[in-house]
Amino acid sequence: MQSSVNKNPFDFSYLDSKTVYLDSACQTLRPEQVIDAMSEYYHEYNSCGGRVKYDWGVKLDEKIKETRKKVLAFVGKSASEYAVAFTLNTTYGLNLVLGQLPPKFTKIITSDIEHNSVFLPTISVAKRLNIPRVLLERRDDGSLSYDKEDVAGAIVVLNSMSNIDGRELTNLKEIASDVHKTGGIVLVDAAQSMSHDQKVIRESDFDALFFSGHKMYGPSIGVIVIKKSLLTLLDIGFIGGGMVEDVEAESFQLISDPDDLSSRLEIGLQNFAGIIGLGASLDWLKSYKPEGMPAYVHQEELAQFLFEEMSRIPSLKLINNSPSLILSFYSEKIDSHRLAIFLSAQKMMVRSGYFCCHYYLKNLKKYPPLVRVSLGLNNTKEQVESFVKTLQTIIANS
Ligand SMILES: Cc1ncc(COP(=O)(O)O)c(C=O)c1O
Repeated sequence: MQSSVNKNPFDFSYLDSKTVYLDSACQTLRPEQVIDAMSEYYHEYNSCGGRVKYDWGVKLDEKIKETRKKVLAFVGKSASEYAVAFTLNTTYGLNLVLGQLPPKFTKIITSDIEHNSVFLPTISVAKRLNIPRVLLERRDDGSLSYDKEDVAGAIVVLNSMSNIDGRELTNLKEIASDVHKTGGIVLVDAAQSMSHDQKVIRESDFDALFFSGHKMYGPSIGVIVIKKSLLTLLDIGFIGGGMVEDVEAESFQLISDPDDLSSRLEIGLQNFAGIIGLGASLDWLKSYKPEGMPAYVHQEELAQFLFEEMSRIPSLKLINNSPSLILSFYSEKIDSHRLAIFLSAQKMMVRSGYFCCHYYLKNLKKYPPLVRVSLGLNNTKEQVESFVKTLQTIIANS
């Protein structure tokens, strides 16, 4: 059934030629360069960061510093204003910051299309701080529908790109400006933005940003980019090794060096190979030219092509209103989970279900389980063509 034209780009040449990976929104594949950088750390300078004086550790410290700089350059922020801390993933970072916020905010705001990684922690923070939680609507173009009074003095937590249909938080800049006027803060779940388009993020004055290396061609690691002014406000309660200047019998002093404030969020030994791999993925994302084109041009072309092709299949209901690298749909003829299994038999990997957006998809919109196709830099036009043909054949036979 499957066409023989599938070829994976050179940097992903470890995949066999029939494999079509279409689940980048969950976890992107790792290019060889990222795997090599991590392997080099294990083989050549396997050591602890921030503690040791021998050569391996000195080299590692230098690389960690470089990675923090690369992260800031990627999101267009300065080291004088922001710190970069490494954690487990987006979810962990969000919980770490939300769980240590002081009780000085009037309410917590989030939106209806959030991933459970935002949706659930905002419920628990509202309870902990005993403040109201307000759920606002995201319009079809991704912008947040709000009045200035809605966000006054609030903790606002929103994704910059949805993992359902890739819609972007186009009014993030205005939201941040309105929230800051009344003493509130804006926390951005950028898990889906980082491998796609960081324009919305770069232009906004966010207080903290959270993302995952594993959704941007890097290893499994989380990153927090946080204003130093917010970091020093946190009521640090997750504590342990690597974060103190001194310890007495019943007290301790956290590191206060402005260049080392990230230590307050980096508890114990870190995923050093992950930090190295993340640095390599940032370099790769900057330099990679799929089919000789800038990555964003290639991605836009693929998204447009996928959307047009899928819009022509009569029995499909697309959730997307416009092209995106993330496209969700259901078929009126076949259950989404069965469809995903049939596609898998053809070596085409897609997701099915509610993608951790249960409130919006299942309870608000009352959709049946969906299928999600998410494209990455490992995909080619031939693969998308092949996927659409395979999908049509499965549906025709259902
Ligand atoms: C929009 C969004 N936010 C948060 C997350 C959670 O990311 P992680 O599982 O890496 O913590 C995801 C994961 O799919 C996501 O798509």
